[in-house]
Amino acid sequence: MQPAASMPRPRKRFLVQNGGNAEIEVTRARGNYVYDARGRKYIDFIMGWCVGNFGWARPALRRRVHAFDGPDYVYPNYTYEPWRELARLLVGLAPNGLSRCCRATGGSEAVELALQAAMLHTGRRKFVAIEDAYHGNTLGALSVGDGDDAVRVVSVARLKPPLDGDALDRLETRLKRRDVAAVIMEPIAMNLGVLIPGTEFMDGIVPLCHRYGTLVVMDEVATGFGRTGKLFACEHYDVQPDMMTIAKAATGGAAGIGALLVRDDLAETLERDGNVYSTYGWHPLSVDVAIANLLWIKRNQRRLLRQVDRTSAYFVKRLHAMAFPEEPEIRARGLAIAVDVRDETYAERVAKKCRTRGLLLDPQESVLLMLPALNVDRATARDGLDILEACL
Ligand SMILES: Cc1ncc(COP(=O)(O)O)c(C=O)c1O
Repeated sequence: MQPAASMPRPRKRFLVQNGGNAEIEVTRARGNYVYDARGRKYIDFIMGWCVGNFGWARPALRRRVHAFDGPDYVYPNYTYEPWRELARLLVGLAPNGLSRCCRATGGSEAVELALQAAMLHTGRRKFVAIEDAYHGNTLGALSVGDGDDAVRVVSVARLKPPLDGDALDRLETRLKRRDVAAVIMEPIAMNLGVLIPGTEFMDGIVPLCHRYGTLVVMDEVATGFGRTGKLFACEHYDVQPDMMTIAKAATGGAAGIGALLVRDDLAETLERDGNVYSTYGWHPLSVDVAIANLLWIKRNQRRLLRQVDRTSAYFVKRLHAMAFPEEPEIRARGLAIAVDVRDETYAERVAKKCRTRGLLLDPQESVLLMLPALNVDRATARDGLDILEACL
C-alpha cells in the first residue's frame, strides 16, 4: 500500500480539474458571499467569473426554479413558445441587426456555432483572433483561443494588441488574401485582463472586414448583461457585429444556457446548410430562468447601469489610492476591473493572502482581476477593498 502522503488528494481521485482556487470547498453562496466547508465566509469579487452578475441565490430566480412546472424536456425538433419568447427578448436587448438566435448549452457551444456559420456563409476556413484570447474549451473555440497547437482544428492568424489604428492596418494586410471567414474577439477582453480596444480599431473593424468579405463575431459570453457598464460591451463603440455569443450571466448561475445571435441571412445559411441541433440547448428550466432574469434586467436596466458606473468609480478611486509596491496599471470598464501589479508572483501572493482574510479575487498572471456583483452595496465593496489594501 502506498504511504498516505502520496495518496491522491480526494478532489483528484475522480474529478479532472485544472487551475484556480480548488482548495475552496463551496457549500453555499448568498448575495455577495461564498461559504466554504470550514464555515468560512468570503466576499466574492469573482462571482463565478461574470456569471452571478446580480448576486447569488436571488430570491426571484430561486422561486422560479422551485415553482417550474413546464415540461422536463422538449425535443429540439419540436417548437416551444418559451424558446421564441427568450429569442425575442435577447434580440430586443442586443445590438441592431442581430435578429435570430441559435440555442446553445453554454458559451463554447455558442462560439462553435459562430465558427460554423462563418465557414458555411463565406465558404472560407480561416479565422483571425486576438493573441492569447480565450473563447471556450471545445476544439474550434480552443483553436481561435490560446489552446495548445496539438488541439488546433481551424487555421487562425493572431492579431497582437494593442488594438489601435496600427492593428487595423495589420488586420487589413491579412484580410486582403480574401480567405478569412471571420474575426472573433471580445469587445472588451476579459480574458486578457480587461484589455480595452481603441475606438479607431473598434469603429473601423466591421467596415474593414466587410470590404474583404469577412464576418465579425463579438464574443459577449463574459462581458454580456451589464458587466462593463453597458448591457453589451459592443455598445461602448460604434460597432454592429454580424454575430454575437452570450452565456454566463444570462441566467445569473441558476441554470446553464448559451446563445448565438445572428443576422437574418446567417440564420438562413445555418438553417439551410448547417447543424444547430443541441440536445440540452435551451433546456426548459434554463429558458424559464433566463426569461425571468432578462425581464428583470430589462425593467431595471438604467438604474443598474448607473449603479455600475458609480461603483466602478469608487473601486478605481480606492485602487489609485492604495500603496502597491510598484505603480500598477488599472484598467476598468464598469465592474470589469484589472489591476496589473507587473509581477506574477506578487499578484498570486496578494490573492492568496486576500483569500485567507475572506476576499476572493482572480489572479491572472500579473493582474488582479475583480468582477464583483454589479449591484454590490457600498459597505461590501468597502470591506472587500479594505481587505485588499491590508494585504498589499
Ligand atoms: C469570452 C468567453 N467566451 C467563451 C467562453 C466559454 O464559455 P463556457 O465556459 O460557457 O463554455 C468563456 C468562458 O469563460 C469566455 O470567457
